[in-house]
Formats: sequence, C-alpha cells, structure tokens
Amino acid sequence: MAVARQIHLVRRPKGKPVAEDFAVVEAPIAEPQDGQLLAEAVIMSVDPYMRPRLDADQALDAPLLGGGIARVLTSRHPKFKAGDLVRHGAGMQERFISDGAGLAPVVPQAGLPLTVYMHALGGTGLTAYGGLLETGALKDGEQVFVSTAAGAVGSVAAQIAKIKGCYVIGSTGSADKAAWLRDTARLDAVINYHDAPLAQSLAAAAPKGIDVYFENVGGEHLDAALPLMNVRGRIPVCGMISTYNGDRQGVKNLPLMIYKRVRMEGFVASDFNHLYAQFQADMAGWLASGQMQYQETVLDGFQRAPEGLIGLFEGRNAGKMLIRVSE
Ligand SMILES: NC(=O)c1ccc[n+]([C@@H]2O[C@H](COP(=O)([O-])OP(=O)(O)OC[C@H]3O[C@@H](n4cnc5c(N)ncnc54)[C@H](OP(=O)(O)O)[C@@H]3O)[C@@H](O)[C@H]2O)c1
Repeated sequence: MAVARQIHLVRRPKGKPVAEDFAVVEAPIAEPQDGQLLAEAVIMSVDPYMRPRLDADQALDAPLLGGGIARVLTSRHPKFKAGDLVRHGAGMQERFISDGAGLAPVVPQAGLPLTVYMHALGGTGLTAYGGLLETGALKDGEQVFVSTAAGAVGSVAAQIAKIKGCYVIGSTGSADKAAWLRDTARLDAVINYHDAPLAQSLAAAAPKGIDVYFENVGGEHLDAALPLMNVRGRIPVCGMISTYNGDRQGVKNLPLMIYKRVRMEGFVASDFNHLYAQFQADMAGWLASGQMQYQETVLDGFQRAPEGLIGLFEGRNAGKMLIRVSE
C-alpha cells in the first residue's frame, strides 16, 4: 500500500513549542472508493491558533489539525475531478482521502499567486475585514492602532484602515518589518516594540488617542493601548498571541474601560461568512489597484511545518507564514 507523510504532535509543549514536540510520520494511504477523492497538499497554513490547541484539543500521535490548499489527484466523487484545487481542513497530511465534506473549490484569478488565497483573499483577510469593519465598527478618518501590524491579519487590517482614511499606527518586532509598514503599507506611525517601552512609544505615536485598537497580542500591548482609548472606543479582539505559550501576566489597565465606555469584543473568522462576497470583491479590487500590499514567508518542504509554527512565536514571518508542499 502507498504511504504519505503526516505531521504528528508527539508530546505536549511546555511553553514555546520545540522541534522535538513533533514528528514526521509515514502512514498508509488507501485508494479512493466511490464518493471519495485522493488529494495532495500544495500549500499548508501554520497559524497562531494552533498553539493553544496543542495543550488539549490536538490528539497526540495524529495529524496536526490545520488547513491549506490541495490538488485532487484522482476522484471518484461527482463534484470534483483530477486537477481541481480545493481549500480543506484535513490537517497536516501530504496526501489524504476525502468524501468532499469541508472542501471548497479554489479558482485562482489570473495574475494572482495561489498563496494569496491563503492570506489576503482567504481566512486571514476575512478576519481582518470583518473584525475591523463589523466588530470594530470602524468609521472613516478614525484613529486606529493595529498590533502585529506586519503579520498576516495585522497587515490587512492596517491597510483597510488606511483605505478608509484613518490615521493608522502599527506595532511590530523588527526593523525590517517596521520599514515595510512605513514605506510599503504607508502607515502613519510605526513602533518597533523592542526599541523602547511600548506605553511611551504608543503615547507618542497617538497624539489624538485611539478610537479602534485591533488587538492581536494582549498583555503589554493591551495595557499600553487602554489608557489611550478615546471615549466610546472599540477593541475588536482578534487574538492575544503573547499569551498562547502560557504567559498570562495580568492586564492592569482594564478598569479604564469604564469611564471611557470602551467596548471590547472577541470574534472568529466564521462570524463574517455573511460578508464573504463583499469582502472578496473589495479585496480583489484593492489588490488590483495596489492599495493592498502583502508579504508572505514561504518555507519549502512538508517536513518544515513545525519550524513554521514555532517561527510564528519568534517573529520569523513577514506577512503570512506558509508551507509549500508541492507545485
Ligand atoms: N479570531 C480569529 O478568527 C483569528 C484568525 C486568524 C488569526 N487570529 C489571531 O490574529 C493574531 C495574528 O495572527 P496571524 O495569523 O496574522 O499571525 P502573524 O501576525 O502573521 O504571525 C505572528 C506574529 O506575532 C508576533 N508575535 C509573536 N509572539 C509575540 C509576542 N509575544 N508579543 C508580540 N508579538 C508577538 C510576531 O510578529 P512581530 O515580529 O511583529 O512581533 C509574529 O510574526 C494572532 O493573535 C492570532 O491568534 C485570530
């Protein structure tokens, strides 16, 4: 029987994951039966949300939960044929059998690389779009702060705010990413949070306060933003990556929400499925006009998925971190 590689979690990480927490395992793979198809991974996504799952939800010695784009190799399924590209959530498997559940066709537009469907035109783009415009209720011309602004979600959120005529501050952790945010994404103010105490740099960058803080980091970032929030400010909470490896240092400034009447609300990407058609039309237009720029960090090789996941917590990615498995 043929075999295909899978990425397994072999022990639960203590703090930041390390390579030894994972293994590349060969598993037998059957032929597709009637109503099934065999697909091969093309691009896999590694995402910060995978880290909290490693503590409990992710089964040991089973493929890592996750998604990507795959190509149908052989099909005995009425809706798919060999060569079709599909978005899937089949986890980190080089090849997999599917009955079609959870698969969505991907039809790449001419002139756009397939990888864009994994970030700006994919789930991370929709997260930024819905989180900022719906949960954050962004109004044109407001004062906006986005953390991890050079990351996959953050870079889209920050540029949507620019497109809406806002004054946009972005934070990031490296000089290169800060330069991209200033020179390419054209943010109004950029902070490298390693350079100086964040509360000070943010206060200097936000002379008119903050109406919307698009929260990706938590901890010190949230503490620095709260004193600067304007009355009736909003904090759409997309993520809190600084807490995912178990560092849950207390946020001290939460009481400031009260008199500032700040609304803080979490969300997940699927909350915005009703916006999908409008999101796709807007994003395709912004990409075509050059108003939406992107970076991506693509690691070549299926076996590099753990390296990619670990790298998210070391700031090794500029834009979306992806694993290329096949062409
Ligand atoms: N709610 C949802 O449905 C949803 C969907 C997707 C993502 N998210 C959340 O959105 C956030 C960004 O996700 P993403 O996929 O776009 O990842 P990303 O920003 O592309 O990559 C992660 C980045 O986080 C920064 N980082 C890592 N550890 C940090 C720390 N301790 N303090 C400050 N920054 C740190 C690093 O950038 P620097 O070099 O700039 O530090 C790193 O490159 C995450 O919190 C994620 O959980 C939520």
